Amino acid sequence: MTVLRSVVLGCGSYLPERILTNAELATQIDTSDEWIVQRTGIRQRHIAAEGEFTSHLAINAARSALTHAGVDAQSIDLIVLATSTPDNTFPATAVAVQNGLGIHHGAAFDLQAVCSGFVFALATADNFLRSGAFKRALVIGAETFSRILDWNDRGTCVLFGDGAGAVVLDAQAQPGKSSDRGVLTTHLRSDGRHKSKLYVDGGPSSTRTVGYLRMEGREVFKHAVGMITDVIVDAFEASRTTAEDINWFVPHQANKRIIDASAHKLHIAPQKVVLTVDRHGNTSAASIPLALGVAVADGRIKQGDLVLLEAMGGGFTWGSALVRW
Ligand code: ACO
Repeated sequence: MTVLRSVVLGCGSYLPERILTNAELATQIDTSDEWIVQRTGIRQRHIAAEGEFTSHLAINAARSALTHAGVDAQSIDLIVLATSTPDNTFPATAVAVQNGLGIHHGAAFDLQAVCSGFVFALATADNFLRSGAFKRALVIGAETFSRILDWNDRGTCVLFGDGAGAVVLDAQAQPGKSSDRGVLTTHLRSDGRHKSKLYVDGGPSSTRTVGYLRMEGREVFKHAVGMITDVIVDAFEASRTTAEDINWFVPHQANKRIIDASAHKLHIAPQKVVLTVDRHGNTSAASIPLALGVAVADGRIKQGDLVLLEAMGGGFTWGSALVRW
């Protein structure tokens, strides 16, 4: 008996040209390269240019993913774009991307789960593809967090960066075994009791402004490892796999200490962990597809590899996905 699976045909990413180093930040606010590296592992981040919007980053990432997949944009009938920094309150940034790619059929919408956005978008697209509703999807994470940072708040502005990444998913019949290619299992969670620990202090309905990111860093840190490991254990149990079976662990890139502690708790070997937080900072929904892009381009992730994704972010929201590349 065959089953439909969402097989990854290709991935791509895009980073704005401008790089902001810790040393440069230290000339603007009371911080140091040493403090930032020691607490977070971040050395630099990319910042979108004036007039460069989330949709522009997303279109570049989508084009690169389509090229890598070797498919035409016209074969895409679903675009799910994860972002917390849309071009406008509405319409969805996804429709700007759809139009920018010259696609005028199918459906395109945004999804908001902050740093967990890419995992939530992947799970959403996977469910649509496996149901037969759509055939080929672009799943994109794209952010311009630099626009919602309070550049006077050293506790948050050093952590984030801009960028975009995308994957092309194709509905394909597979034998229905754990050796199948494609998305094998996804697990999504949220708990709104934590909604004021990481939030933006503005919005169309509350303040009629965009607002700035606010965070209780220690509170986020305290919950992160437990939530991440819980949802990965769910993925292992559902797929009858273990940390040993994983070829690559591609976590949301928020903080090296959170990533190291999660991998350690799950007994995932350090050499299997894909790390880009040093170069990209925390790019929220874009961080996982950006990291996938790096590990595919440098030849680490190959067809047939078992890739474990996880993210945790504002809400709190958190989730995992296990994908056979
Ligand atoms: N440079 C220098 N000093 C700083 C900076 C900075 N950029 N930021 C804060 N400090 C100071 C504080 O003012 C404080 O000084 P004080 O002791 O004189 O009051 C001191 O450093 C300690 O501050 P804490 O906030 O307690 O520092 P902590 O060790 O908790 O590290 C950090 C802060 C890095 C934010 C940490 O809490 C963390 O990593 N939290 C997780 C948050 C995270 O990753 N968020 C990403 C978004 S969520 C997600 O994507 C999952």
